[in-house]
Amino acid sequence: MVDVEIRELMQPFVLSDYQVQEVYSRFCLEIAKGLRRTTHEQASTKCFPTYVQDLPTGDEMGKYLALDLGGTNFRVLLVTLKGHHEATVESQIYAVPKDLMVGPGVELFDHIAECLAKFVAKHDMHNAYLPLGFTFSFPCIQMGLREAKLTRWTKGFNCPGVEGEDVGLMLHDAIQRRGDAEIAVVALLNDTTGTLMSCAHRNPDCRVGVIVGTGCNACYVEHVDNVDLLDTEFKRIQKQVIVNVEWGAFGDHGQLEFVRTDYDREVDRKSINRSEQLFEKMTSGMYLGELVRLVLLRALERNKIFKLNTKRAAFVAVLQKNVDIFETKYISEVEADSFPEFPNTRRIVKQLFGVEKATVEDCQKLKYICECVTKRAATFVAIGISGLINKIIDRRVVVGIDGSVYRYHPKFDGYIREMMQKLVKPGKEFDIMLSEDGSGRGAALVAAVASKTK
Ligand code: BG6
Ligand code: GLC
Repeated sequence: MVDVEIRELMQPFVLSDYQVQEVYSRFCLEIAKGLRRTTHEQASTKCFPTYVQDLPTGDEMGKYLALDLGGTNFRVLLVTLKGHHEATVESQIYAVPKDLMVGPGVELFDHIAECLAKFVAKHDMHNAYLPLGFTFSFPCIQMGLREAKLTRWTKGFNCPGVEGEDVGLMLHDAIQRRGDAEIAVVALLNDTTGTLMSCAHRNPDCRVGVIVGTGCNACYVEHVDNVDLLDTEFKRIQKQVIVNVEWGAFGDHGQLEFVRTDYDREVDRKSINRSEQLFEKMTSGMYLGELVRLVLLRALERNKIFKLNTKRAAFVAVLQKNVDIFETKYISEVEADSFPEFPNTRRIVKQLFGVEKATVEDCQKLKYICECVTKRAATFVAIGISGLINKIIDRRVVVGIDGSVYRYHPKFDGYIREMMQKLVKPGKEFDIMLSEDGSGRGAALVAAVASKTK
């Protein structure tokens, strides 16, 4: 049992039933606003139709290139769809230097095209005609499957000259400038769409795709009649469409002020996209570790943790000086620890802060801080997923999930499920599945399904 002082400190992170219900209602209202033409502008969750209407059947075949930009790694992939729900994926990670993430957009796209060319050369594919699916994990208005305008950069990117532009065209132009490969950009998609497609490839009940990684977002399958934003011609031909919710921006219009803490405000103040992506800043890997750093610092300053430790002053100094020093992966490691050994926690505080011989009580306290930050994030994610499941008409809904937080945190899945049991309407059934390579398999499937429906 953690002592009362730390419990008090963490109280703002512990959501009451009333707060959970209120966030849930506000979220559902926001989705409805996002889908309606007349209220779309005011909505923080933009609910962009993706123009991906057909889920895969499993019979898709062919070789596709794919690009994955916007998660932890930038990757180029070669996917072979083999029919019978099978696929093989070969991939290569390439670095995106920090200065390119905030430098001129054209340079970023030239870098992407260069990596693509290297990959094609390595696989000896210069002479082949290659269709490419581009997983571009940022909010975009899709004008069609292969045209998408970036509305705003999120996460660590901020390259001038891309917002408002068609990123498919920018990639195409960069490939043309090099002129050393025959690559056609046939589909642009969000990582949530890739996740949904790759999971639907294996399980036909999959209707929702979620990412809890560097960023946090979801998409779901919606009936076209509920998507006011679609043009009439599309609605005449199609029954359903995948909607990219962009729920990371939920709260940007004040809806979450009643649950945001001083720590959330501090994280936002220091970010490169102030007042934007407020839900994301409470739920995703780019920010959770930083929230823990800020809480830990406050706990130390108020003498609520590591009270008797001889290295206290140095500990505080390191925490104060080093933004982002407490990486989100440490949260997973601390929460995986058990009483009374706490091997991970002890290793981390020693490695980062030079603290030797952390006491059992201090380890328990740090674990509790991490738990509160993660549980709140998982609660928000569960609210979002439940809101979508309750909207979908199917009785049974499978949710495909990916992202480093969900994948590597030992308890995130359990936290989400527990909250979803409370929020998903009676009579509905849900399951969660881990996505296998959404940006590879998923992008290839979107490209394949696109060529099928042409
Ligand atoms: C990957 C998907 O596994 O997860 C990517 O293939 C996605 O498309 C990523 O962007 C998100 O997680 P993270 O933690 O890398 O941001
Ligand atoms: C950010 C992006 C969104 C993406 C998510 C997960 O929220 O805006 O498009 O899906 O991160 O990568």
